Amino acid sequence: MGLVGTPDLILGDEFNHSSLKVGGRASGATVLNYDHGDSTHLEDLLATHRHRYRRCLITTDSVFSMDGDLCPLPEILDLAEAYGAMVLVDEAHGTGVFGMRGSGAVEYLGCSGRPLIAVGTLSKALGSLGGYVAGSATLIDFLRNRAPGWIYTTGLSPADTAAALAAVQIIRQEPERRQWLWQNVQILSQGLDEQLSRLTEPKTGFERLPSHSPILCLQCQRAEVAISVSQRLQQAGLWVAAVRPPTVPTSRLRMTIMATHEPGHLTQLVAALAAALEAETS
Ligand SMILES: Cc1ncc(COP(=O)(O)O)c(C=O)c1O
Repeated sequence: MGLVGTPDLILGDEFNHSSLKVGGRASGATVLNYDHGDSTHLEDLLATHRHRYRRCLITTDSVFSMDGDLCPLPEILDLAEAYGAMVLVDEAHGTGVFGMRGSGAVEYLGCSGRPLIAVGTLSKALGSLGGYVAGSATLIDFLRNRAPGWIYTTGLSPADTAAALAAVQIIRQEPERRQWLWQNVQILSQGLDEQLSRLTEPKTGFERLPSHSPILCLQCQRAEVAISVSQRLQQAGLWVAAVRPPTVPTSRLRMTIMATHEPGHLTQLVAALAAALEAETS
């Protein structure tokens, strides 16, 4: 809100986080979704609709929260340049996790310095509360004066702000944490794939969704099976959420890996998951 209004167009990835969708609708702009991660569809929409609107804003998560895959940011930025559109990237799951400096998926995807608006939350890798907008000084000045959601909202508490600042320091000074995280992602991905291939398919109907992040999902056909497996895992002391429609198009078990998980935790998860899947299908 503030960036676009009724004479404008928002083109958003269909799997964007709800906050981008709700914010888009609240802005009064016309909102159209493009197919998930599909820059060809985005280009079709730009070619067909862009000329009828004053401004155009393309919105995308950098890391999709319910799948763990990444957006095709370089292509999106090229299209934005060609069609005179702005790009807003939600780095909620990128901040502190991606890139050599941990600044996010924009850095990882080689797009640092390109014209875009990055928004993020302080509530995930940074372990605090609140959020941020990063962009040109002109943009920030504009938002400070024109974005009602910011102007008329109480600022962050000193404690949350201090916690987020301390987390930023840790991200800068302790890159080894990201190494541990990515090692864990690799270990768990391999473990899951091995277990899935061992299960006499297609009994379970579970399939790992493509992911490039510490968010790993096992998709399954039936919501009740996802819930039941999640409950079995909870009984074994493991938190794996069962995410179902309408939040996502297909039911899935969603695992989020942390730098502080130890190899034993990951082995425990793979073993418990294998047992839960076996129990579910026997
Ligand atoms: C992609 C994405 N954007 C935004 C948010 C909102 O973050 P917060 O709850 O810190 O406002 C989330 C939280 O789940 C998210 O996953």
